[in-house]
Amino acid sequence: MSKLKLAVLISGRGSNLQALIDACANPEFPAEIAVVVSNIPNAQGLDRAAAAGIPAMICDHTYFKGDKPGFENALATILEQHGTELVCLAGFMRIISPVFLNRFKDKVINIHPSLLPAYKGLDTHARALAAGDTTHGCSVHLVTAGMDEGPVIAQRAVAILPDDTAETLTERVLVQEHILYPEVVADIARGSVVIRQGQIERAAGLLHHRDAEIESFLIPESPVDQPHVSRPSAPDSAFDDPHVMWDAFAKAFFMAGGLIAAALALLAVFLV
Ligand code: GRF
Repeated sequence: MSKLKLAVLISGRGSNLQALIDACANPEFPAEIAVVVSNIPNAQGLDRAAAAGIPAMICDHTYFKGDKPGFENALATILEQHGTELVCLAGFMRIISPVFLNRFKDKVINIHPSLLPAYKGLDTHARALAAGDTTHGCSVHLVTAGMDEGPVIAQRAVAILPDDTAETLTERVLVQEHILYPEVVADIARGSVVIRQGQIERAAGLLHHRDAEIESFLIPESPVDQPHVSRPSAPDSAFDDPHVMWDAFAKAFFMAGGLIAAALALLAVFLV
């Protein structure tokens, strides 16, 4: 199987990069990381790439002071040299302009910690809390020239709990980010999601499944905090669950036994 070649761009911790590294470690995963590039020289994510044996490079934007096109062209050249087919921004803290995007048309995606279009930009968790929202989450979207504005590819939601702080909410959303990003990459690599001329095209079944899940997920009474994509589906009927079936069988067996014993006791009373 030929795998989709990814470039992951980071600026810091790199926990989403790690989620992609872990996913790619599975031989069945349809993508591989060709290169990791950081614009920050001591980003923690560079160590994660090195530990996984992935080429890791620094493209420091401060060397290109006042020359954003120069920085973006240098970055794009590194990615081209590594045969990049999909660029995954993972906590990359630079706004990317058409200079870069034109060299990777329909090939740049980003993960953002909000249910876009809500809360573009920074401090999304604190803003959702301050607004009194009941749900929050993360989105993977196509990158366009406007910040966090490209069409959404997929999202995952979590409930906002009464005692949540920005930190606790960040942690729970991050767990969902780490599931969502590899899933979207796999969907793109397998062709279940196609990005064409700035539009997202999904396999019909996939669109239906995910949209239905997102809707039910956002109903306040529904169990939230569970992933909307990979949540194990409930059995169609109780008897599809072997434990439920065995319980029912055991109950019926003992009830029948009890009835026979009672009938024998009655018979004995009449015969005596
Ligand atoms: C994540 O919350 C991501 O959604 C946002 O920046 C953060 C990066 O975290 N774009 P990490 O570097 O992947 O740990």
